[in-house]
Amino acid sequence: MTSPVEIAPARGKLGVLLVGLGAVATTTIAGVFAIRKGLALPIGSLTQMGTIRLGKRTEARAPKINEFVPLADLNDIVFGGWDIFEADCYAAARTAGVLETDQLEKVRGELEAIKPMPAVFDQRYVKRLDGPNVKKGKNKRDLADQVVADIRAFKEKHGCDRLVMIWTGSTEVFMTQTAAHATVASFERALEQNDESIPSSMVYAYAAIREGIPFANAAPNLTADVPAMLELAAKTRAPLAGNDMKTGQTLIKTIIAPGLKARLIGVRGWYSTNILGNRDGEVLDDPESFKTKEESKKSALDYIFQPHLYPDLYKDLTHVVRINYYPPRGDNKEGWDNIDIFGWLGYPMQLKINFLCRDSILAAPIVLDSALFLDLAKRAGMSGIQEWLSFYYKAPMHAPEVYPEHDLFIQLMKLKNTLRYLRGEELITHLGREYYD
Ligand SMILES: NC(=O)c1ccc[n+]([C@@H]2O[C@H](COP(=O)([O-])OP(=O)(O)OC[C@H]3O[C@@H](n4cnc5c(N)ncnc54)[C@H](O)[C@@H]3O)[C@@H](O)[C@H]2O)c1
Repeated sequence: MTSPVEIAPARGKLGVLLVGLGAVATTTIAGVFAIRKGLALPIGSLTQMGTIRLGKRTEARAPKINEFVPLADLNDIVFGGWDIFEADCYAAARTAGVLETDQLEKVRGELEAIKPMPAVFDQRYVKRLDGPNVKKGKNKRDLADQVVADIRAFKEKHGCDRLVMIWTGSTEVFMTQTAAHATVASFERALEQNDESIPSSMVYAYAAIREGIPFANAAPNLTADVPAMLELAAKTRAPLAGNDMKTGQTLIKTIIAPGLKARLIGVRGWYSTNILGNRDGEVLDDPESFKTKEESKKSALDYIFQPHLYPDLYKDLTHVVRINYYPPRGDNKEGWDNIDIFGWLGYPMQLKINFLCRDSILAAPIVLDSALFLDLAKRAGMSGIQEWLSFYYKAPMHAPEVYPEHDLFIQLMKLKNTLRYLRGEELITHLGREYYD
């Protein structure tokens, strides 16, 4: 046992600010309201339903995670956010069409009370969208100051003790790091000069991090994952997580691929295609937004298979990812995976996976868990990249000197060991020699 890390108690209200009140955000918010009323269960949420084994298997200690570490109670969460559309969260949830009308009616009052604050938005970064609820400003610095003012006013109005911010907005166009992103000084200069390399999402992230507020990016766009933001987060002690929630097809990929790799089954090709009909699908129909998503989706297999260590098995793998916008399906995505594998002496086999999933149903628990764990990290004095939250993300943030860990099972072990470490419990290695010696 080591001594536990000092963690400030989760006292008072936690404000969860969501940038982009679309399908994912409203499904999260309505879900938390329904769960609070005892109308549904928080299925898929590790913070609400997960347990953690402590000590030796013979000790039979497995408390619930939310009894083991001090997390904010669902009753203490207050939601708020921004969107380019004026619709309140009830109307937005109806548009998103994820949850049944009956279920939404039961939490209608609470949802209607959440009205989006005017957004920082520029169509240059999300080509398929345009909306009226948008801030005007002298330059991007001015817009960031307006977001800071929104954050402070929200905190005051709702009597929040702490805040977290999560980008649940649309996927922005593909961007790469530039000199503007190198340091806080260059970034702030670029804000003033309205530099094109600062997309709207970065303006929000900068505002949150400047306030020392934990920030997560649920989408794949380049947002907090640049040196300037890391420098600022180190200064303000803001914890960060992202990028791009691991939900449908990529979740399945990172469940199946480690299994094939564990048994040294070769993979020649992995063809993934999706049909999706929600607004996210429409935004991703723009090639520039799709490129951001594609890059985020494609890296997982490379890291899991490690072709440089296993050239005979994975060197020539062809990996193709397609997303097609198909309105009739709404939020109910259908993914097909065709996996060409080979075994002993090179004999070929095939694996087909047809996943009929509900995107936002898989995403909502990730938004909730990210908010609660980031708040825990902040109260435990942890700042910067929270790699233990890789479990939730398709393109996990990581230190520059290490590769990202994509294997879901290693990610879960890392997450749980981080919780054990925080509470001064023995880390679990699964060695277990003591049972046999
Ligand atoms: N659902 C999933 O399984 C999943 C998984 C991983 C990532 N994501 C990502 O999460 C994001 C949200 O997905 P969704 O299905 O809720 O999409 P959505 O289109 O329903 O919602 C996005 C919302 O963001 C708003 N928005 C866009 N730019 C904004 C800005 N600058 N400021 C404020 N609001 C802005 C839009 O108006 C829209 O209401 C997308 O980027 C998506 O790629 C979703």
